[in-house]
Amino acid sequence: MQVWGRAQLDRQSLVLNVGGGVVGDLGGFCAATFKRGLDFMQVPTTLLAMTDASIGGKLGVDFQGIKQYWRFPATCRRAHRPCFYLKTLPQRELRSGMAEGYKHALIGAPPLWDFWQTKNG
Ligand SMILES: NC(=O)c1ccc[n+]([C@@H]2O[C@H](COP(=O)([O-])OP(=O)(O)OC[C@H]3O[C@@H](n4cnc5c(N)ncnc54)[C@H](O)[C@@H]3O)[C@@H](O)[C@H]2O)c1
Repeated sequence: MQVWGRAQLDRQSLVLNVGGGVVGDLGGFCAATFKRGLDFMQVPTTLLAMTDASIGGKLGVDFQGIKQYWRFPATCRRAHRPCFYLKTLPQRELRSGMAEGYKHALIGAPPLWDFWQTKNG
């Protein structure tokens, strides 16, 4: 069996990306491009990453000031979304994630949007 680098990776390695959308995209990019691709798992720790960035099978990395310059499809093996991470998330990041959730509900899940409307009066 051939292993690479200090991390001793081989084709059976699993890359765990624990963090916000930036970590998920960058870690996914590294995993998907290393030696024709390693399996990776997303563990999003922000609400935005839980509701958007860890879903959907695409990755993007900013380059030279251009947003998502490197963009390509890649599907993680699994995603795990432990809510306890949200306890330490700053209000601003929580609001950002909620806005993303509202956007998805408005576009694709009207019952969820109606539910939130009822909840918030
Ligand atoms: N691939 C996709 O489909 C997709 C979709 C949407 C967004 N994105 C990308 O995701 C990125 C935005 O993601 P984001 O909003 O998660 O931002 P982020 O990854 O920059 O995280 C926001 C901040 O929260 C901190 N943080 C993360 N988890 C925390 C926790 N549990 N407690 C306290 N602080 C925590 C981070 O250190 C950072 O400072 C953008 O680069 C965007 O392009 C990708």
